[in-house]
Amino acid sequence: MGQQPLPLRALAANVLMAVENGQSLSQCLPPALAKLPANDRPVLQALCYGTCRWYHRLEGELLGRLKKPLRKTDRAVHHLMLVALFQLRFSQQASYAVLNESVEACRALNKPHLTGLVNGVLRSAEREGAPESADDACRFSHPEWMLEKLKHNWPDDWQQILEANNAQAPMTLRVNARRFTRDQYLLLLDEAGIVARPTAYAPMGIQLEHPVPVDRLPWFADGAVSVQDEAAQLSTGLLDLAPGQRVLDACAAPGGKTCALLEACSELEEVVAIDESADRLPRVQENLDRLDLDATLTQADAADTDSWWDGEAFDRILLDVPCSATGVVRRHPDIKLLRRESDIVPLAGIQLGLLDAMWSILKPGGRLVYATCSVFPQENHRIIQRFLKQQDNARLVEPDVQWGRDMGAGRQLFPDPDSHDGFFYAVLEKPEP
Ligand SMILES: C[S@@+](CC[C@H](N)C(=O)[O-])C[C@H]1O[C@@H](n2cnc3c(N)ncnc32)[C@H](O)[C@@H]1O
Repeated sequence: MGQQPLPLRALAANVLMAVENGQSLSQCLPPALAKLPANDRPVLQALCYGTCRWYHRLEGELLGRLKKPLRKTDRAVHHLMLVALFQLRFSQQASYAVLNESVEACRALNKPHLTGLVNGVLRSAEREGAPESADDACRFSHPEWMLEKLKHNWPDDWQQILEANNAQAPMTLRVNARRFTRDQYLLLLDEAGIVARPTAYAPMGIQLEHPVPVDRLPWFADGAVSVQDEAAQLSTGLLDLAPGQRVLDACAAPGGKTCALLEACSELEEVVAIDESADRLPRVQENLDRLDLDATLTQADAADTDSWWDGEAFDRILLDVPCSATGVVRRHPDIKLLRRESDIVPLAGIQLGLLDAMWSILKPGGRLVYATCSVFPQENHRIIQRFLKQQDNARLVEPDVQWGRDMGAGRQLFPDPDSHDGFFYAVLEKPEP
């Protein structure tokens, strides 16, 4: 007899175990989804994303309900109960179904001796309702260190940031300017019965009222639009592109911003797109192919210019550095579990190192746009301040824009439940000698 496939909740518990062990949802969810019939995949996805989003609150409740923590070898059952609590607190699923299916999943995880515990914990959770959250980390469902850092960095804004992190992000599109105007595409969406509105700041952006699968978007496969958050789209305008320029996208994968800049200016001399990740770089080519765009792709550590640079300086450089991604927690709630406080100082070192290296290959008269999807000043305006202190030939440009908060050395956007992600941008120019 063949092995029984694992029930959905047991799969969800295993995915959460993998996240706890350091894998991102985008790494460990697809293989689990592949084990399910197409109909069940959105349910597994919602369970995993939702449980990560509310992990710290649910964990607080679960620990309060257990007499003692489960043994390490029973950790999957701990996660199974978190998934069930997520459903009891945040879904419409009937509680008897949550209880029965969780007990069944516990058996499928080969832990029949724990079915009584699962049943007892979930029954009392159902009967007693959600407890009052003991502290802010539980209430806002964030790791303690992230909460404390946000309170410290943004004493007037931290609550708003945390609430936005827990909200569902909207689906936002970027219309390919080479194919359609934004108004033309809004009309196509209207004809397809998809309710949408133009974004406030990104000129080619459209925000959908409800997310839809991309294959419902008119002409998606033919490159009419891409899915890209509004804040990410703002990089193009800051680059001040013009025909004939040689442009570098130094940290390019998966290529959202590379494609956006190519769509915006069709007569650039060359666009060089670099990424150090061999796994991620092919995604840039896939996006270029779908949109029928061209760039020179190189897998390299951008900071190690000796290994890849041909000696011809760039007119424009986009430096979208690796960062804590704390501005996009709402889209990647696993960041709450994956990121550590101790990551931030090394990241800041990498960011400043990349900025120094990219500055050395920028043409005099050229422009560099520094970007992160972080809300920590340490990775944002403080990097720019540190850089300006050591580079007396760098000039900070104040872009003429309506969005974000002026930090004196770049602009900070906070995640907004009604629109864009959290991002940071700074624009630097190298004066002609
Ligand atoms: C924020 S993501 C870039 C997102 C991309 N610009 C977009 O809009 O689609 C940062 C990227 O930097 C890459 N990266 C990290 N360190 C790098 C380095 N030293 N050189 C080049 N790429 C690097 C990572 O692999 C990752 O793909």
